[in-house]
Amino acid sequence: MCGIVGYIGNRDAYPVIMKGLQRLEYRGYDSAGIALYDGNELNLCKTKGKVADLKKLCDETTSTKGHVGIGHTRWATHGIPNDVNSHPHYSNSGNLVIIHNGIIENYATIKKELIKRGYSFQSDTDTEVLVNLIEDVMINEDVKLGKAMQIALNQAVGAYAITVFDKRKPNELVVARLGSPLAIGIGENEFFIASDASPFIEFTSNAIYLEDGEMAVIRLGKQIKVRKIQDDSLVDPYIQELQLNLEQIEKNGYEHFMLKEIYEQPSAITDTYRGRMLANEGIIRMAGVDDNIERLANAKRIIVVACGTSWHAGLVSEYIFEDLARIPVEVEYASEFRYRNPVIYENDVVIAISQSGETADTMAAIKLAKEKGAFVFGVCNVVGSSISRESHAGAYTHAGPEIGVASTKAFTTQITVLTLIALKLAKYKGTISDSTFRLHLQELDRIPEKVAKVLETNEHIKIIADKYKDVSNCLYLGRGYNFPVALEGALKLKEISYIHAEGYPAAEMKHGPIALIDEQMPVVVIATNKGHYDKVVSNVQEIKSRKGKIIGIVTEGDEAVRELADYVIEVPDTIESLTPLLTTIPLQLLSYHIAVMLGKNVDQPRNLAKSVTVE
Ligand code: AGP
Repeated sequence: MCGIVGYIGNRDAYPVIMKGLQRLEYRGYDSAGIALYDGNELNLCKTKGKVADLKKLCDETTSTKGHVGIGHTRWATHGIPNDVNSHPHYSNSGNLVIIHNGIIENYATIKKELIKRGYSFQSDTDTEVLVNLIEDVMINEDVKLGKAMQIALNQAVGAYAITVFDKRKPNELVVARLGSPLAIGIGENEFFIASDASPFIEFTSNAIYLEDGEMAVIRLGKQIKVRKIQDDSLVDPYIQELQLNLEQIEKNGYEHFMLKEIYEQPSAITDTYRGRMLANEGIIRMAGVDDNIERLANAKRIIVVACGTSWHAGLVSEYIFEDLARIPVEVEYASEFRYRNPVIYENDVVIAISQSGETADTMAAIKLAKEKGAFVFGVCNVVGSSISRESHAGAYTHAGPEIGVASTKAFTTQITVLTLIALKLAKYKGTISDSTFRLHLQELDRIPEKVAKVLETNEHIKIIADKYKDVSNCLYLGRGYNFPVALEGALKLKEISYIHAEGYPAAEMKHGPIALIDEQMPVVVIATNKGHYDKVVSNVQEIKSRKGKIIGIVTEGDEAVRELADYVIEVPDTIESLTPLLTTIPLQLLSYHIAVMLGKNVDQPRNLAKSVTVE
């Protein structure tokens, strides 16, 4: 998964592209590069390392003049992260230069054929093969870049968001996408290209998101021509006016994007139900649900497909949908679902949950579900993302950009959307009374202020983090609605502090994991005063008697767990189905502070990328 940026217009391209790459680093950051055309020459600079390393190298060694250029920040898929494999890549003639996000699955076959035709390759990448395939088509078919790209891409198999520049035609850039996102920012006689809007939002809010299988020739002073790659037919592009602003993107004064996004959760949850939930009137309005209410309410089964944190949100929704709307739910890892030849019926509803809306496994899972006739409902955070457009209907979380690799506000806003859907279906089906429905809405309306209250325990959580930052393992326990929160808390700790952690249903302890308990093992127990509280207290006692260290997440005023635990973190009281929205907050902060104290790269943890658009 990589970040691509391009610019053509009257500005100096270098600062625009460099700043754009910095904003896209969350998409991949093992190497970076830029190519600029200064009116005579194509000047290319690229290196292993982060965008900051690239900027230093460019400033020292490369002409940074020019009003057209392309840039790339890489997440390696073919070829190890090094200078040669970083993008952009030249064609053999040196006339073409390309940047690419995705995978060309049949690159080896194409490469063999091109070598036979006398082409040579500097790198191990699929991308260098693609640019030489395009060049080969230009030469053999005697066509311009746009047509050559269209022909070449019909020979390529895989996923791509690409931008190609031909130094013989310096007033144009040619782009194409299949399976990886590509946005075109439209300014006053200038155009921007990027993997998302963050690199150009300060210059223009008008954008075209190419659809899968589309390409575009972008020429200064001309209307953009969008075509279908398959048959070269013209497409009438939809120009969106984006609501993002720069401030949403920048860190806004926080040390890390992750901390900013943890603290944004009260507003993110509010934004997610705003305009959809009228608590006082007892109304939920969601176009994607309203327009398909029969299909959704009559589902014989809901299958949730997702990955990682989104899968945990899906697990919470299993409890909500079954408890309130009485619809059977199966929660599937998308990566397993897509390959295990699952049984899918036409009256199934598949809910795909994805913050980025670009996760390859989740995308593949919904394509399989659609082939079998199921109805696919997407819950994504990125407007215009691939999964959101592949779904039959959907509802966006309005969390705003989530830049930190560790998902936080996406999780709580996903649960918010799923709760609204479950409540709406339960009301429609009559599986809950009107008073229960209204109680949930009124309580959901109070959640943002209750989340803000939990955030006030931050300093207390820092003390606990300091106490346990050097442990090697950690257990997280929860029951019922809070079992998925235990899994999510463990994932947070693992992915940013690199401490091994596991989440378990609290009652499972006696089936094995309790053998792990000793004085070295901290156990985080979610013990709010709802859902089998007494049984969780017994679990805490079992751990205590084996000298385990206990961090209890408890409801304000709790005494029983406070007696037993080494530390407690209080959350306000709420109804059982909404407790995950509160109990997850201390776990996010605990993992954040431990990772910071350990000096980890919190926003860009090792080996991870924000959105896994490769398999
Ligand atoms: C969560 O903190 C991780 N970054 C990861 O598990 C993530 O949730 C997963 O890759 C799914 O991403 P998506 O929501 O964008 O599909």
